[in-house]
Amino acid sequence: MRIAVLANLKKNAPVWEGMSPDQWDDLDSETTVNAIIAALESGGHEAWFIEGNQDLVDHLRRDRPDLCFNICEGHFGDAREAQVPALLEMMRIPYTGSRVLALALALDKPMTKRILTYHDLPTPPFQVFERLHEELQPDLHFPLFVKPSREGTGMGVMADSIVHNETQLRAKLKQILDRYQQPALVERFIEGREVTVGLVGNLVAPAARRLPDDEHAPRISKGLHFFPPLEVDMARYPAEEGGIYSNRLKVQMAHTFHYECPARLTDEQVQRLNWLTAAVFRVIGCLDVARVDFRLDASANDAPMILEINPLPGLNPGYSDLCIEAAAGGWSYESLINRIVDEAASRYGLM
Ligand SMILES: Nc1ncnc2c1ncn2[C@@H]1O[C@H](COP(=O)(O)OP(=O)(O)OP(=O)(O)O)[C@@H](O)[C@H]1O
Ligand SMILES: [Mg+2]
Repeated sequence: MRIAVLANLKKNAPVWEGMSPDQWDDLDSETTVNAIIAALESGGHEAWFIEGNQDLVDHLRRDRPDLCFNICEGHFGDAREAQVPALLEMMRIPYTGSRVLALALALDKPMTKRILTYHDLPTPPFQVFERLHEELQPDLHFPLFVKPSREGTGMGVMADSIVHNETQLRAKLKQILDRYQQPALVERFIEGREVTVGLVGNLVAPAARRLPDDEHAPRISKGLHFFPPLEVDMARYPAEEGGIYSNRLKVQMAHTFHYECPARLTDEQVQRLNWLTAAVFRVIGCLDVARVDFRLDASANDAPMILEINPLPGLNPGYSDLCIEAAAGGWSYESLINRIVDEAASRYGLM
């Protein structure tokens, strides 16, 4: 096939005076895009890069790819990750990964958490702050965790995200509201191990957005392939990082990532994590690939708590969680990338 790789490169992103230094930390590098192109070529495809900006329509009209490999995070707007897919649907061009609604939903952590809660899936209790002085709900007790509602790559997440009192809470809220111009998400702080589960595949119909009535029905994950869970080895980072998978760990320290994969977990724990991963993938309505982030609640016998789902997980071949997990599962980077393409191609009837 002729495949256009659509991404937003950090080096092409707009800049302005006073912008936050981590503003574009979730965008991609040329290294990642080139690795995807090479992987697609090794799969027998013709592949090239197009920046997912306002010129995209012109390029697509000119190039007419059979399929787009989409990893665009977008720049602006409350559904920035859904913008390119919306455009591709207008132009009737097939693309890999989740569609407009799922991408918009997953980018918005509070909306995702509302859906998880509706389905009785475990996620930390929370409150959204749109203004600095909203009163804290009586059911939320310190310590709490404060982060932006709609960012990735640990943007706005650092040791001071853990707040122990009203003063710290308001200071962190102010920082998030001012810097990221979006509501802040305040959650119960989950003390415990940090685990993430990646998968490729698609649910077998009738499926998405609903959990089977029977907890044990195998159909919850039919069609999905789980990679071994990865655990971030917090003990190997300086104490100042606060034991959280912060922006600094994900960006500045990405090349010296400390982790264990497969994580040291019992078969029963892995099964529980995979079940929850499938459940989130399902109710959010994801396609082809995703990664679900958890904390194991030390105060509740290591019960997994869902933090979020990433339908556009990082694909840097060297250090992205999903790529490390796939490798631990015996998959080469090439097979991971080409599997994502095959999943999409078969949904569109292209193969
Ligand atoms: N409620 C919480 N309790 C404890 N730690 C948390 C909580 N929420 C987030 N964290 C910490 O902050 C990190 C980043 O949070 P989260 O996964 O929600 O953000 P993200 O920036 O979207 O991540 P990604 O890079 O996966 O897109 C988590 O991996 C975890 O270490
Ligand atoms: Mg995360």
